[in-house]
Amino acid sequence: MMLQTQVDLSPFNTLSLPGRAALYRRITAPAQLAAPELGAGRRFILGGGSNLVLTGDFDGLLLHMAIPGKRLRGEDGEAIYIEAGAGENWHDFVQWTLDQGWPGLENLSLIPGTVGAAPIQNIGAYGLEVGECLHSLTAWDFAKQAVVSFDRDDCRFAYRDSRFKQEGWHLNGGIAITSVVFRLAKAWQPNCRYADVAQELAVRHIAAPTARDIATAVIAVRQRKLPDPAVTPNAGSFFHNPVVSALQADALKAAHPTLPCYPQPDGRVKLAAGWLIEQAGWKGKTLGPVGMYEKQALVLVNQGGATGDDVKRTMAAVQADVLQRFGVALTPEPIFL
Ligand code: EPU
Repeated sequence: MMLQTQVDLSPFNTLSLPGRAALYRRITAPAQLAAPELGAGRRFILGGGSNLVLTGDFDGLLLHMAIPGKRLRGEDGEAIYIEAGAGENWHDFVQWTLDQGWPGLENLSLIPGTVGAAPIQNIGAYGLEVGECLHSLTAWDFAKQAVVSFDRDDCRFAYRDSRFKQEGWHLNGGIAITSVVFRLAKAWQPNCRYADVAQELAVRHIAAPTARDIATAVIAVRQRKLPDPAVTPNAGSFFHNPVVSALQADALKAAHPTLPCYPQPDGRVKLAAGWLIEQAGWKGKTLGPVGMYEKQALVLVNQGGATGDDVKRTMAAVQADVLQRFGVALTPEPIFL
């Protein structure tokens, strides 16, 4: 099998950061992963590159997942099961399910990236996380040199987290997800509790939305608030929304009454990182070529020509200011390579 060498990765990361992979292979079928030359040495599995900070050249082997395919796998009384290849574009896949008349994923419209990457950070938006709709997935385990499968519970999903991150496989390329099966309940209910989506539907005078209506509303909200990576390079939310103790949240709320707080099932409280960053003065502010977006302070943007070091510098400055002002530590969401 031919491995490419010294491949420019700037087109493959949505922050448009420069860097080259010493070795590179595009994967278009699961069986290709069993080739012996892919099993040894440093390895990284790349999907859409939309949750990635490239810190420079990568001296290992980069596997670019491009396995295609989407199909109805089956159904039972309660749900239908749809399988998609890891390399399918996430948004196109969601729109395809809606075109087929299979609602359930509409709230996750327009999220950048691929089907295979979606479970790794358990992508979520507008009141839905992908783990809620995931039935199982198939992967190649490089240590075992075998095909492995995970059902939903095996994936240990949490907020922007999964077993694939907990085990460090997203950093060491230990596992390559090859396909994902989604379970879409036949008893579909619109999920428009998220204020932005509810408001968008109200403006359109839609009282009983279809899944397509929700997709259209979500797309409109995202397009209004989030920069298009093709125009303004970015990696979506750059930090997790921090989860703090109820005690700390109460103290912060007393000092800052407008702070958005979301109580969690475990008693802790999730805070809006975008609000903290905006209050710390970073909304629309830039340090060198990297700043925080003027319409959504949680999104870090490359204004042009930035390197991984520029990203790290702005990230550290934002973290320091938020820590100093609110005593809250912000954790980056993307993977650093
Ligand atoms: N806010 C501000 N200033 C800002 C940005 C936000 O005050 O500059 C406030 C908003 O007014 C609102 C709150 O913060 O009260 C939450 O803002 P928003 O609804 O925009 O959502 P978010 O918490 O910033 C999260 C996800 C997004 C997801 C949206 C919608 C994380 C880290 N981010 O953002 O996910 O699209 O909710 O569900 O959980 C991503 O992960 O890349 C991503 C884009």
